[in-house]
Order: sequence, then structure tokens, then C-alpha cells
Amino acid sequence: MSYKNWNVEKDSDDICWLHLDVINSSTNILRSDVLDELNDIINDLAQSLPTGIIFVSDKKNGFIAGADIKEFTEISTIDQAREMLHRGHEIMNKIESLPCTTVAMIDGFCLGGGMELALACTYRIMRDDKSTRVGLPEVKLGIHPGYGGTVRSIQKAGPLAAMNMMLTGRLLQGRAAKAMGLVDDLVPLRQLKRAARYFVLKRPRSKELSLKDKIINHRLVRPIVAGQMRKEVAKKAAKEHYPAPYQMIDLWVSHMDNPQRMLEKEIESVASLVTNDTAKNLVQVFFLQEQLKTQGNKKDFKPSHIHVIGGGVMGGDIAAWCALRGFRVTVQDQKPEALAGTMKRSMTMFKKKFKKDKRSIRESMDRLIPDTTGIGIEHADLVIEAIFEDKDVKQSLYKDIEPKMKPGAILGTNTSSIPLEDLATCLERPDRLVGIHFFNPVALMPLVEIVRGENTSDETMKQALAFGRQIDKLPLPVKSSPGFLVNRILMPYLLEAVEMVGEGIAPEMIDKAALNFGMPMGPIELADTVGLDVCKSVATILAGTENLNLPKKMQHMVDSGKLGKKTGEGFYKWLKGKPQKNKNASYGNLQELQDRMILRFLNESAACKREGVVDKDELIDAGVIFGTGFAPFRGGPLHYIQSAGKTELNAKLNQFRQRYGDRFTADEAWSEL
Ligand code: NAI
Repeated sequence: MSYKNWNVEKDSDDICWLHLDVINSSTNILRSDVLDELNDIINDLAQSLPTGIIFVSDKKNGFIAGADIKEFTEISTIDQAREMLHRGHEIMNKIESLPCTTVAMIDGFCLGGGMELALACTYRIMRDDKSTRVGLPEVKLGIHPGYGGTVRSIQKAGPLAAMNMMLTGRLLQGRAAKAMGLVDDLVPLRQLKRAARYFVLKRPRSKELSLKDKIINHRLVRPIVAGQMRKEVAKKAAKEHYPAPYQMIDLWVSHMDNPQRMLEKEIESVASLVTNDTAKNLVQVFFLQEQLKTQGNKKDFKPSHIHVIGGGVMGGDIAAWCALRGFRVTVQDQKPEALAGTMKRSMTMFKKKFKKDKRSIRESMDRLIPDTTGIGIEHADLVIEAIFEDKDVKQSLYKDIEPKMKPGAILGTNTSSIPLEDLATCLERPDRLVGIHFFNPVALMPLVEIVRGENTSDETMKQALAFGRQIDKLPLPVKSSPGFLVNRILMPYLLEAVEMVGEGIAPEMIDKAALNFGMPMGPIELADTVGLDVCKSVATILAGTENLNLPKKMQHMVDSGKLGKKTGEGFYKWLKGKPQKNKNASYGNLQELQDRMILRFLNESAACKREGVVDKDELIDAGVIFGTGFAPFRGGPLHYIQSAGKTELNAKLNQFRQRYGDRFTADEAWSEL
């Protein structure tokens, strides 16, 4: 029998090698047709049992990436969800109960449904290299494992390690996976097949759960541990916004004594999650992320040396990030102490990223070279400028460096607000100036806006987009209009928040109202983090073109030198990098605060749609989610306007207009939404 996605091969030891190579897909995914074929194959093999079965991928990029997320979008009822989950369970249960040994030979990523298939096997053998990772990251899509993974991961790795992995959605490298008992062996590529065969033929004993794990799994202990888990989860995700992790904890607490029952309940739990708005919106966000990844093609640019000018908040972190991603980087600043700070912060970033991997930390440090005089300029394929936000200062630097740059090199500016056309007037070759606008903090924010000025050439644009992908960021091409996309949308929301501080409302309450909506950080804390001078400069540029006034409070703070985190005081006092918040602050109507801020955010998103700041409407949602962290479970601002009800939101805007003035005038684009 021949199959479209699977290839069944028997060897001389009567071992069946089940090769997966999903057609019309660059990666192996457990699409319906793939599972249907697998079901037939397992039925056939159960009839004439081989000595063992080894699952292997014929794709170079990994084992199995998981279920087909596109199929999620076709599910609209709980019954459809149940049917899909039942079929998956049936196949995994059949694999688990086969009388012969089964082995998953994992080379490259093994995620979600792919990991659940591996967990249904008798053994898992994993390749020992950096790019081979395993995990159950379903929680990131608003669900939890649904093909038996909750039960089987806990049975193999114990409740603490398995729940931690599933609740965070974290992917694990080989050593961690082996230590927790999720995989049985870790071997280099050349021994992978031999090891898989060994496990089939010798059936060595698998690691048992420790006594501690058994105690934690006990029905009397589970509720206590679960309380702690819920507390940890609540620090990151509110139950009303992200129900999946809470349901997963409930599943374990209520049913771990009876794995069969827990498997059935897993189906019910995921069926309810997959059909709710959070999961639907997070799936949408997943596709938006994929769309951003296609904006740049890594092959379009091959830089080997990056030169960053400005070792301040942004330049220092940009340089460190590029070194971390494997580039040779020189970083220049007029102040040696700024460079010393850069090197120190870089070390912290590398340690955080690579943890105990001392070699990667050292190699990244070696790639990052402080440069007080700018000798790196003439060697660089890309020069990134991140100096003071001042047109004259930037232009005087450009005049100095342009003659020293290599003929093919491009110049990227990290400006937040100055139009590229204005900066380019001093350049001999304005076609190679492009905006490469990172967000703060660089290591955490996935987006970079790639800004096309009037003179930026197609080639420069292509190269900058490619660079965005090479450093593992999500590049978004945007028009060089004031504030580009993200700051433009963020600023009215931030200024509304500052306006409210001016009205005497406690910053703590304003931030809380935004957090309640699902923002990752409150606007006042964000303004302090970015720097009130930077905020003011963006707001001033926008004020020239928009219905936007700089609140007196903001001007006052900047005049008095209270610039936020970097000066130790802004709207908050800052101690050891943390804002000191008043725990007793209060305010009666948080909803009104939230509505005021969010409506300005949404209204500005509509304006960007009308002006075509990016090519497609979905890219507004994508840019805003990945550039500001806008509540991902709401699926982006334009999406939210539709799902929350355009008419109701519009009515509220009108009310606010009467109460607070013209800044709440609905943009013309509302009628097209
Ligand atoms: P910063 O004030 O922390 O750092 C600027 C650095 O540039 C200073 O260390 C200064 O010594 C150095 N510098 C100034 N002129 C120089 C010259 N001619 N040659 C060499 N070094 C020079 O500023 P920050 O916040 O890093 O901002 C830099 C750029 O990034 C600005 O254009 C800003 O608008 C933009 N940006 C800032 C963001 C933020 O959150 N702070 C976010 C995104 C963009």
C-alpha cells in the first residue's frame, strides 16, 4: 500500500521505519489526511506486527511541528472540535497500546501534536544539537495539549516539570528534556538510528518518576501545589483573558488519579477552549506573525559586519542583539563611558539568553567590539545610527561618515520620529538611507519597522527587510509618515494617559486600567521607560500633522529634567530599575479610564488604515501587537473594533468628544471598518 505522506519501510530486523514527509508542506504537520493515513497504517501493522516501529521525519527542518493550525480556523462548534480531538486520541491510544515497541526518532523540532505522538511511543530518542527542541506550546494559541499530551507528559516527566513546560509553552533542548524524563536518550546525529534500533531490540527500562513526583501527584497534595501554580500563572495571564492554563491545572488536580478519565476530560477542555474568542484571536496572531516573517527574505542581503553608532539605551542593545544573533559588530559612541555601559549590559543580555552556555556567551562577547573612533565604519555592510533624536546632530554625523562607508553598504537610522526625507537632504546617496526602527527593550520586542523614505531604493528596502529576518525579528515595511505606524498609534493613547495624570488621577490607576484591558505594561510606566524626552519629541512631530496636543504635564516633566527611568524619576520614582508604585492609590471608574485610552488607540489605528501607512489592514494589527504588545488575545486593534462592536465603540467616542473635546472625533475610516 502506498501513502501520500508516509513511507513504510521494513528492515532486516523486521523493524518498521515509518517515514513522514507531508506533501505540499515545507514542514511536517499532523493534517487530517496525515492522521487518516497514519490510522490506516497502524491498523495494518496491528494485523501483522513487526518487531518494532520507528517514527522518523524525512524533512530536513524537523520531526513534526504540530497539528495543522489552519484546520483550527475551520472549527466553529464544540461538536466539530470534539470529533477532531477524538480522532487524534484514538490514533495516539492505538500507538500506545500496540504490543510491539515504538520509538520516536527526533531530529529537529518536535512540537505540540508531534510531541504528543512521540509521547504515545514507548521511547523517545533525541538528537543532541541546539536546533533540536521539544515542547507542548499549545498555551500560546489559547488551548492546551489535546491529543493526550497533558496526561502522558505528566506520566513521563512528573507533574512539576511537565506542567511548568505546558503552562509556559517553553521549548526544551535535549539536556533539559532528558533530565526531566521527557525523552529517553540524547545522542549525536551519527548514532541516532543505531540508538533507535537499540531501544526497539533491547527495550531498556525507562526512568521511573521520583518519590517527590509521586507525592506531588497524590490527590491530597495536588490542590496545594495547584494553588501555587495558579498564583504563578496569574502573574502573567489573567483568567478571564487566558483560560487555558487554568483549565489545564484543573484537569490535573481533578483527574490525575484516573488517566483514562483525564484523557476524556482533556478532549472536553480543549473543545471548549478551541472555540472561544481567545484561541481564535491567538491563532489569528500566529498567522499575522507568519505574514510578517514573509516580509523579508534572508537571502536578499549578506552582511558580515554591522557598525552601530550610539551606545545609549537603544544603540547599545541593538549592537548586543546583532552580536547575539551571530554578526560581527562594532559599536561607536562619543562617550567612552557609554560604551562601557553597553558592554556591561550586553553581558547581562547574553547571560540571560544563553544561561549556563558559557561558550555562546563568550563567542557573543568576542563578536562585539567597542569602537571609540569609528574604525568599523569602513568595514561595515550596514551602519545603524542610534544617536540623539536631533536632526542637525544626525545630519552632521551623516556628512562625516558617508564618505567612509563601503560603496555597497546601507545606512539604517533608528529615529523614532524624524522624517527620512529630512534626514536624507545632506546625503550624496539618499537611496541607501532606510529606517530600521527597533522598539524598547530591543531583546524583548519582536518587531522592527523598516521605513521607506521617498528616496530609499527598492534594493535598500529589500536588504533592510532581509536584515530584520536575519536577526530574528519581525520586519514590517512602513511609509515614512510621522511616527511611522507603531508610535503614531501609541502616542494618542499615551498622551491621553498623561492628560489624566494632569487631571489628578493616580498613574497607578491609569496603568491598572490598561493592564485590565490586557496591555503588557501601563502607559505611564511605558512613557517613563521610553523616556519622556523621546515621547515629547515624537508627540511634537505628530502634533504638526495631527489633532494632538502635548499635555502640559508632559512639558512640565521634561522641563524639570524628570525624564523617567533613565534619570531615576518621571511620573514614578525609579529604584533599581523598578517604578515605585503607591499601593493605596484608588479611583472609582477604571472602565472610563480604560475606554478613554483605548478609544484613542483604536481611532488612530483607523486613521492609519485610511492613510495606507502599511500595505494591508492586517499589517496594522500585526505591527501593533508585535510593536506594542497590544492585548494579543483581542487579535489587534482593527480586529477588535469589529469584534467589540463598531457601533457601540463609535457611540462612546461621540460621548467622549462631547465631554473631552475634538481629539475624540471619529476618524472617517470608521465607516469602512
Ligand atoms: P540615548 O540618549 O540613550 O543614547 C544616544 C547615544 O548616542 C549617547 O550615548 C550619545 O553619547 C551618543 N551620541 C550622540 N551623538 C553622537 C555622535 N555624533 N557620535 C557618536 N555617538 C553619539 O538615546 P536613545 O534612547 O538610545 O535613542 C537613540 C535613537 O533611538 C533616537 O533616535 C531615538 O529616537 C531612537 N529610539 C529610541 C527609543 C527609546 O525607547 N529610547 C525607541 C526607538 C527608537
